[in-house]
Amino acid sequence: MKLVIGNLAARIAALCVLVCAPFSAAADVTVASPDGAVVVTLSDAGGEANYSVTFHGESVVGRSRLGMLFKDREGFDRDLRLVSARKASSDTTWEQPWGERRYVRNRYNETLVEFASVNGPSRRMNVRVRAYDDGVGFRYEIPKQKNIGKVNIIDELTEFALPHGSTAWWIPARSWNRYEYLYKTTDISEIIEAHTPMTLRAPTGMHMSIHEAALVNYSGMALKQSAADRFKADLAPWDDGILVKTQTPFVTPWRTIEISKNAVGLLNSDLILNLNEPNKLGDVSWFKPGKYVGIWWAMHIRDRTWGHEGIHGATTAEAKRYIDFAAKYGFDGVLVEGWNVGWDGDWFDNGDLFNFTKAFPDYDLKAVTDYACKKGVRIIGHNETSGAVTNYEKQMGAAFDLYKRLGIRMVKTGYVANGGQIERIDQKGIRRYEYHDGQFMVGHYLRVVQEAAKRYISIDTHEPVKDTGLRRTYPNWVSREGARGQEYNAWGVPPNPPEHVAILPFTRMLSGPMDYTPGIFDLEPNKRPPARSDMPRNDPRSRVESTLAQQLALYVVLYSPIQMAADLPENYEKRPKAFQFILDVPTDWSESRALNGEVGDFVTIARKARHGEDWYVGAITDENARTLKAPLDFLDAGRIYKAEIYRDGPKADWKTNPYDIVIENREVRSTDTLVLPLGPGGGAAIRFTPANGK
Ligand code: NOJ
Ligand code: CA
Repeated sequence: MKLVIGNLAARIAALCVLVCAPFSAAADVTVASPDGAVVVTLSDAGGEANYSVTFHGESVVGRSRLGMLFKDREGFDRDLRLVSARKASSDTTWEQPWGERRYVRNRYNETLVEFASVNGPSRRMNVRVRAYDDGVGFRYEIPKQKNIGKVNIIDELTEFALPHGSTAWWIPARSWNRYEYLYKTTDISEIIEAHTPMTLRAPTGMHMSIHEAALVNYSGMALKQSAADRFKADLAPWDDGILVKTQTPFVTPWRTIEISKNAVGLLNSDLILNLNEPNKLGDVSWFKPGKYVGIWWAMHIRDRTWGHEGIHGATTAEAKRYIDFAAKYGFDGVLVEGWNVGWDGDWFDNGDLFNFTKAFPDYDLKAVTDYACKKGVRIIGHNETSGAVTNYEKQMGAAFDLYKRLGIRMVKTGYVANGGQIERIDQKGIRRYEYHDGQFMVGHYLRVVQEAAKRYISIDTHEPVKDTGLRRTYPNWVSREGARGQEYNAWGVPPNPPEHVAILPFTRMLSGPMDYTPGIFDLEPNKRPPARSDMPRNDPRSRVESTLAQQLALYVVLYSPIQMAADLPENYEKRPKAFQFILDVPTDWSESRALNGEVGDFVTIARKARHGEDWYVGAITDENARTLKAPLDFLDAGRIYKAEIYRDGPKADWKTNPYDIVIENREVRSTDTLVLPLGPGGGAAIRFTPANGK
């Protein structure tokens, strides 16, 4: 059977073969990936629903439980029988409106397995499993049925029995600083509870990353060690302890396991996106990937303040200065933080006071947005909520209406509040406290994105719920934070160590784009004299632990369709040659390929510009100097390219000599191998342009 896939261009090969074979037996059911390497087995051994996964015959997940428990009602924990399995296969290609690559192939074999109760009233639980060449996704599908209607889930029994002796890269879950922790590199035995994506390397060298896809109307899943090497789903609870409030029929998010024989394979997987629903917004050409500057870093390094009690950053004059800078160099947007009423005093604790339509008296919102439009630049709105979410939801519609009228096309949101301290006022007027990744907030973040979409506004969420690939369904959810970003280098003690950005691609970035805000050129901002005597600088230990060349490489390595040039305009004008790379590098790609990498050590990524023929490469290393070799076989065979190389100089070292950079041009071909010597905390950024159009 041939399916016609929505609005795909006719030239995309789209082939979908569905072979549905009903099955009825109490035997184990297996489903293998198209290449046969990944095999998932489902069973009802011991009256429990179970699954296991192998990769080239090696155990990825040993026999692990499936199921869930409900409040005041029988769940799916025992007395179960696997009663049927329906198999299907699919091979389609879909187009991303923007992204790391234009076309994404979605090829898998699937089985939909039904478990039914053998005792007591009839109950049914389906599990849909998709086996891909690069991993597995499975989810629960609880059909509408007589004995289960409205339910409160009080436990999800999903387990992951992982290879003994595996090394994991992980951050703690259910903790006050949300996702903003430094990654730990430990044996899995040392994990108590971790956020996903959690990435592992088995003793054999096989790599895997456990995460989830399409987190909608459900709570975020963390992984809790429940027995040696065995991890269990731990869903973020509501304020009253219930994990998920729902009703049949419902489906859960996909539980995902990306699998590869090496680290770099994880970076080339599209599993998470493939498991999300297609675009629900239709034509989203109103979102333009691009680069922005902003009144932002100045606050983090204490040059300026968000409130207007200190040296207010968001003044009309300062905004115009940034707009002029953006227009001069061709940036698309200017972010202005601290523009609205609510920032004065202790904004962290007074989220209720934020007003999202009223500007401070020294900031003329209309004059600024008009000036920006005249200069061909867009103001990026900023809505910090401090986690006072009801206050935000009440104002959101009117605020987005206003922004639309003013020509604002993107809003950065913020939820600075400790984990479990999001404030929601319930229908009785009682204040409730929620997790950023609990079901209530999962719904809130999406409501914001949907309300914004109605006004052609895109959203960049800070202090978000983790990304689970929803940008496929809602392509105006363009980026988010959800890890320690550059801001920690302004005031974090310790700041991000060099290995942090070498871990991110293999962990946080597997979930989706990150607004890391690269491009700091003054790497020790806290060494400068204070802006005013009553505004001391941050601790000088807070600094950027990278070389200048690495700051450039991050634009290619850490994907986001919106990238900030985060430093102050004057710092860029001091180093115009290095700045040129930031001006050139695109933020939208037709292809992306990770060339080499080891988690926490180094990575090299090549990307082809979505528009035009140029390729870009970014390579970074951790605290160790090393020489990376990048074969250029991604370039067109027979073509000569000019390579503009921005690399660490011979003495480059983030600690002692971070500004040592070599900027050179060379002619290269696809048969060449680029040899990149990187200093400690170093990097290289390269632009390849076909020479003379040949
Ligand atoms: C935290 C965000 O990550 C940062 O970018 C922003 O400047 C502050 N909150 C203030 O909203
Ligand atoms: Ca943050």
